[in-house]
Amino acid sequence: MASIHIAKATGKVGKRVQLSGWVHRKRESGSIIFLVLRDVTGTVQVAIKKDMVDEKSWKSARETTIESSVKLNGVMKEDKRAPTGYEVEAKDFANVNISEPFPITEYQSTELLLDKRHLWLRSQKMINIMKARSHVFRYAREFLDSKGFFEVTPPIITKAGGETGADMFETDFFGSKAYLTESSQLYAETMVFSLEKVYSLVPSFRAEQSRTTKHLAEYWHLEPEMAHYDNKKSMDLQERFISHIAQKLSKDTALLSALGVDSSSLADIKPPFKKVSYEEALQALSDKGFNMKWGDDLGVEHERALTESEEKPMFIYNWPREIKPFYMPINPRDERTVLCSDLQAPHGHGEIIGGSERIWKYDDLMERMAEVEKAKGVKFNMANYQWWIELRKYGSVPHAGFGMGMERVIKWLLNLDHIRDAIPFPRMSNRLEP
Ligand code: 4AD
Ligand code: MG
Repeated sequence: MASIHIAKATGKVGKRVQLSGWVHRKRESGSIIFLVLRDVTGTVQVAIKKDMVDEKSWKSARETTIESSVKLNGVMKEDKRAPTGYEVEAKDFANVNISEPFPITEYQSTELLLDKRHLWLRSQKMINIMKARSHVFRYAREFLDSKGFFEVTPPIITKAGGETGADMFETDFFGSKAYLTESSQLYAETMVFSLEKVYSLVPSFRAEQSRTTKHLAEYWHLEPEMAHYDNKKSMDLQERFISHIAQKLSKDTALLSALGVDSSSLADIKPPFKKVSYEEALQALSDKGFNMKWGDDLGVEHERALTESEEKPMFIYNWPREIKPFYMPINPRDERTVLCSDLQAPHGHGEIIGGSERIWKYDDLMERMAEVEKAKGVKFNMANYQWWIELRKYGSVPHAGFGMGMERVIKWLLNLDHIRDAIPFPRMSNRLEP
């Protein structure tokens, strides 16, 4: 007899079923042992009665422990007293691998749960988050694929910086200096001249010390790049994209309710999103009592103040030229600003997307890079950027794109307290294991 999953087995009341899973709970009362069995589809109560199984099965059931892997077969019954309304009355029971005493019990420190992450991933909470994460990755790809995008695969080891270049992990590449990429944008840009609409979904690395609830040193970065787009068109796409992901996820009501997430609030995420300029955001912050001046970047507390009473994501567009990167074009209508936008998630979650138009003309790019060097007191190693700059000499076109942190999006959608729970093995300034 082949094993089937718990979710399928509960549809076979009165029939014999075979199950493979892990012992989630165990309780013994005289001649009956009750187990709660877990597999990927859920849990079910199992009753092993001494007088209904052979000696070997009874011995195995007595020996089994929490988190042991087991195999059993028995008759599926409806039982109102059982936690999920079903109970399997075992006929045969065997241990596949008996677990040593499981190091995670009910109340544990956050640090222990992180040290034992490889085991904590079996908790109901992490199982549900990892399912939702997988869905979010699929919905994201599904949307872009349906809009004619091609998924591309940029290199992770690079010579050139992307954003600031300052927060990069350095590595030795056969005797010369190389870096782990902090954004795949420059490579994605390269590919719009052949494939027009592309995206990459690979890790980005940030060697920032910042110990906040939204910074990882390694995160999954989705970066679409589109030929013939301006930032306005890119914002329209972002709205529809984010709404697609939220709408799709909202349909998984069982998963969301297990995670304590209100699915109707996700179903309400629809275009259009609110759009405010940087200048208006600054004013709103001043009105809330923050002392802000032109050119100040927004910190975690500012993002929280702006978004905590919002229900949908909101764009902040056209930021000051001095705080945004070298590839963003000057806004011809207001030369203090560049043509860009950040998308801020509601309920205080803050930035989930950063995007902009790209400077597509050679001379404009040279001018802007020189300006950024002067303003920031940095020197670009032009040789490292030469290939990317050169794109502006061979049939360049206007283009735009954006970068979305997958874990930031998952943190918001599932209303997680900390970004580390949105990824199986978080990498943070104080965490490299397991
Ligand atoms: O705003 P960022 O730095 O923009 C870029 O890297 C652009 N090159 C993207 C592009 O236009 N292709 O990063 C983009 C997004 C942020 O909005 C945020 O969601 C996420 O990446 N992000 C992080 N996520 C987790 N941990 C970190 N340390 C992150 N830093 C950025
Ligand atoms: Mg940003």
